[in-house]
Amino acid sequence: MELKLKGKKALITGGTSGIGRATSIIFAEAGIDVAVNYCRNDEKAFSLMQELSNKPGKAILAKGDISDYQETRKVVEKAVSEFGTIDILVHSAGIPTPEGDTPENWDRVMRVHLYSCYNLEKFVVPIMKKKKSGKIVIVSSLTAHTCGYNAYCVAQAGKICFAKGLAKDLAPYNINVNTVSPGTIFTPMLEPYIPAEKRREFTEENIPLYKSKPGYPEGKEVAKVILFLASSLAEHITGEDIIVDGGQFIHS
Ligand SMILES: NC(=O)c1ccc[n+]([C@@H]2O[C@H](COP(=O)([O-])OP(=O)(O)OC[C@H]3O[C@@H](n4cnc5c(N)ncnc54)[C@H](OP(=O)(O)O)[C@@H]3O)[C@@H](O)[C@H]2O)c1
Repeated sequence: MELKLKGKKALITGGTSGIGRATSIIFAEAGIDVAVNYCRNDEKAFSLMQELSNKPGKAILAKGDISDYQETRKVVEKAVSEFGTIDILVHSAGIPTPEGDTPENWDRVMRVHLYSCYNLEKFVVPIMKKKKSGKIVIVSSLTAHTCGYNAYCVAQAGKICFAKGLAKDLAPYNINVNTVSPGTIFTPMLEPYIPAEKRREFTEENIPLYKSKPGYPEGKEVAKVILFLASSLAEHITGEDIIVDGGQFIHS
């Protein structure tokens, strides 16, 4: 089965950690050239570049805060200057809910999770529209489906709404826009909430598909679905949200 991914050019926001990192790796393994965005942690970014150096796809770093409009422009420009275009956008950058229900924290979460969708759309979509092809995958969350009203849940739900509207507008340009909604995935983001020694216990209690296998869900579970949505196998899917949670939602 031809996935038609080799040689494609991808921009992956939040591509140095967790779900984004797993996506950077699986994409580079599939022969996709990846521009890996991140915001602060240079050490993590450089160590990922080392890991990607022997993969079929090329990898470059595109550092910048995608909650900021002008920085997003620079991130996109960096990817285009290195690779000439962007065929695939994966938006995985995110932060957890900061301590304290303050206007500043609400604003920060909205900016990183939701304003970033607007910023990326403004700079990436014109490139895809011009060539009448593209794949956009935005990482939302199972929490978008659970009716929380804190900034994190609302922003994640907003991503799905944003993606569906965008999918409608961009379908005539042969651009697919979809979201994935992961359940609990053990990434650095989750470390403060579920300590390492509690991971297995949490998994057994909450994630039915992991009951009969060892370990716990990591970023690659989501990365595989993102790869599928970026591939020709998903050519007829747009405006969809795929929950990737090992049955966590139906179990709760
Ligand atoms: N883990 C889960 O259980 C889970 C479940 C559902 C949904 N999600 C969602 O999945 C996405 C990825 O989460 P994760 O668990 O993989 O998180 P993670 O391991 O904490 O990684 C977050 C990534 O986003 C980058 N980032 C943060 N703020 C940024 C900004 N303003 N501009 C550019 N990059 C930024 C980080 O870069 P630096 O480290 O350099 O700042 C890092 O590369 C998030 O949207 C999250 O809400 C996660």
